[in-house]
Amino acid sequence: MNTVFLNGDYIPADQAQVSVFDRGFLFGDSVYEVIPFYQGVGFRLDEHLQRLQYSLRAIQITADDDWNTILTHLVELNGGGNLSVYLQISRGNTGRRSHVYDAEMTPTVFACCNPIKDIYGSGPDAVSGVRAIVTEDLRWGRCDIKSTGLLPNILVMQQAKQAGAQDALMMRDGLLTEGASCNLMLVENGVIYTPKRGSEILGGTTRELILELAAKDGISMQEADIDYGRLLAADEVWVSSSTRAVVPVIEIDGQPVADGKKGPLWARMFELFTCYQNDLMNG
Ligand code: PDD
Repeated sequence: MNTVFLNGDYIPADQAQVSVFDRGFLFGDSVYEVIPFYQGVGFRLDEHLQRLQYSLRAIQITADDDWNTILTHLVELNGGGNLSVYLQISRGNTGRRSHVYDAEMTPTVFACCNPIKDIYGSGPDAVSGVRAIVTEDLRWGRCDIKSTGLLPNILVMQQAKQAGAQDALMMRDGLLTEGASCNLMLVENGVIYTPKRGSEILGGTTRELILELAAKDGISMQEADIDYGRLLAADEVWVSSSTRAVVPVIEIDGQPVADGKKGPLWARMFELFTCYQNDLMNG
């Protein structure tokens, strides 16, 4: 995990340095992606790179590069296997602190690797259901941009930790939006419901995959408004993200979700994910 990518170079992590005037550091003027690689192969890599371009365009940073080649090489240099790649692109270094920036600035590009569990190799029994709390969604109005400005997210995760929970689900104007670093789904009578895509949530690549897999398997999945009462009354609640795939939520604000166990539709979805992953690995 010791080689990182910084502005075109692959270097040891302890030699990587960024200016204190970098706008990512001063303003959170930057966007990012977290991309899992299993056995050295990127999972939904194209989808992540498309979202990266979407985020960059939305904040008017131009950074075109062969990200696929760069990240795959970085994973190789870190020993391959099961790693998640963190890629951050900030607007760059203004040489001083200024709200105003020059449109022609050179962005700062940083990527590093972290080990991840081989979720699919370990099987469904290795997945533990999580406890969650519900908190207010205090984020800005463009949650569709994967910005590094994550202060509200980290504060609610800390709140969850202090409550003995592993996840925080956020609610804006009485409706659930998503988790601190994951999307949200619930199951009612065999149908999956998820908050609608828009500026209030991140368009998750895993959420998109669940939509695809559900459609192929004949499982109905719909976008819907989810309020607190509906969440607590659900048959199953799930969260999804690249590094965790799809995870059952078994308790919310101290109350069990249904019987407090991992649900049958979750088990089916996990199986669909595993088949998808096996097909990907076997070409
Ligand atoms: N987070 N919503 C939020 C707020 C997120 O931060 C994430 C991912 C997701 C799920 O997106 P995807 O399925 O494409 O990973 C939804 C990453 C993992 C992170 O911040 O570490």
